[in-house]
Amino acid sequence: MYYTVEKGVRKQMEHLVITGQKQLSGEVFISGAKNAVVAIIPAAIMAKGKCVIENLPYIEDVRSLVDTLTNIGAVCEFTGDNSLIIDSSNIEKYCATYESVKKIRASYYLMGAFLGRFKKAEVAMPGGCNFGTRPIDQHLRGFKALGAEYTIQHGVVKLSAEKLTGSHIYLDMPSVGATINIMLAASMAEGVTLIENAAKEPHIVDTANFLNMLGAKIKGAGTDVIKITGVSELHGAEYMIIPDQIEAGTYMIAAAMAGGDVTVRNIIPKHMDPLSAKLQEIGCMLYEGDDSIRVVSTGNLLPTTVKTMAYPGFPTDLQPQMTALLCAANGTSILTENVWENRFQYINELKRLGGNITVEGRVAVVEGVRQLMGAEVNATDLRAGAALVIAGLAAKGTTTIGNVKYIDRGYEKIEHKLRAIGADVKRVGEKNIG
Ligand code: EPU
Repeated sequence: MYYTVEKGVRKQMEHLVITGQKQLSGEVFISGAKNAVVAIIPAAIMAKGKCVIENLPYIEDVRSLVDTLTNIGAVCEFTGDNSLIIDSSNIEKYCATYESVKKIRASYYLMGAFLGRFKKAEVAMPGGCNFGTRPIDQHLRGFKALGAEYTIQHGVVKLSAEKLTGSHIYLDMPSVGATINIMLAASMAEGVTLIENAAKEPHIVDTANFLNMLGAKIKGAGTDVIKITGVSELHGAEYMIIPDQIEAGTYMIAAAMAGGDVTVRNIIPKHMDPLSAKLQEIGCMLYEGDDSIRVVSTGNLLPTTVKTMAYPGFPTDLQPQMTALLCAANGTSILTENVWENRFQYINELKRLGGNITVEGRVAVVEGVRQLMGAEVNATDLRAGAALVIAGLAAKGTTTIGNVKYIDRGYEKIEHKLRAIGADVKRVGEKNIG
């Protein structure tokens, strides 16, 4: 039973209840990409004018960012139809407190956006998922190269620059966050910035496309050299967010796990290539359409090896879901996590469901088991939560998953989408239990 005690009253916390072993079939419509929208909403701070963001995912990270923007004076309006209007014309503040950013890791994009617009920023160090140290040294190094000074006091990063000047920045590793953050600030610097060893993820390209719609001059996003010619002002625009590669992948893995026939729609199939190749390798049939992939699985799966890597490698954000899937394969699989130093905390929870997994450093060895069994488990972060949902879909009996707040950070209406393809998933709400 998941509960907290508040003022002496026991409170049952929200959780998901899954009755496993239902075959999945039908269609799932994928929402806009979380990791694009969490960069694009802060980017809208730099525009003097209305930005209309379409294909918006209604997820907790979006709500938190919109609250933060509202607090600094932006006018934000959800218009229905999955769209959001942001008008930052009249904002004057360049501060985001810990209270407003503690829930989301991607609040670091406020630094680049404030710096671009105001040449100053005060942003509390971000919160969000916790899987090991998540340094931002590459972001700060980039800002410094553009001419900003910074201090970090009591967990608040303060940046300021007389002016920002284009520079040549070579990243130590292809960091998604640093690439986007530098792109944001450099869009409003004087002169040309080159980012080398840049990250190439689809959301980098999406953020660059959005900035270009606002009047920025960015070339080369999606390759490892990005050239940004600074401009003095950005204006409003309408923009449609790309589909979420990781949400799509999560449902594809769920279909593979539950021996189903599921079509994921509103996706860019090319973004799914690293996962599609693995699913085919382990015995699933995939049929690709223009904006869809149909996954057919007998549930009879072969083991494999997976190594996470920056795009276009296998995404780390699908590693936990893949581990859950491989618990049901016939044999031994090996997963190597190359991006994050500590992204295996969820393994203990998978073990509660009967997973046979050993972890040594960055490598997990998964021995396939005949049957996962339902149990009470807790999401330890967003994708870990998705992995537990996938395991619960195949487990015998009932699985209850606590800490749903993590899952809600990145998956829109997960229980509705799963129910639509035949899963038995309920959300049990918060209530006082005495
Ligand atoms: N790194 C540094 N210094 C830095 C930045 C990164 O050492 O200044 C290291 C990190 O410690 C990590 C690696 O570089 O080992 C890659 O980090 P990156 O900066 O690429 O990650 P991020 O921008 O913090 C984004 C996604 C993550 C996703 C990673 C990798 C967003 C908001 N988050 O994080 O998504 O895992 O890229 O693809 O875009 C998720 O959606 O569940 C999630 C965690």
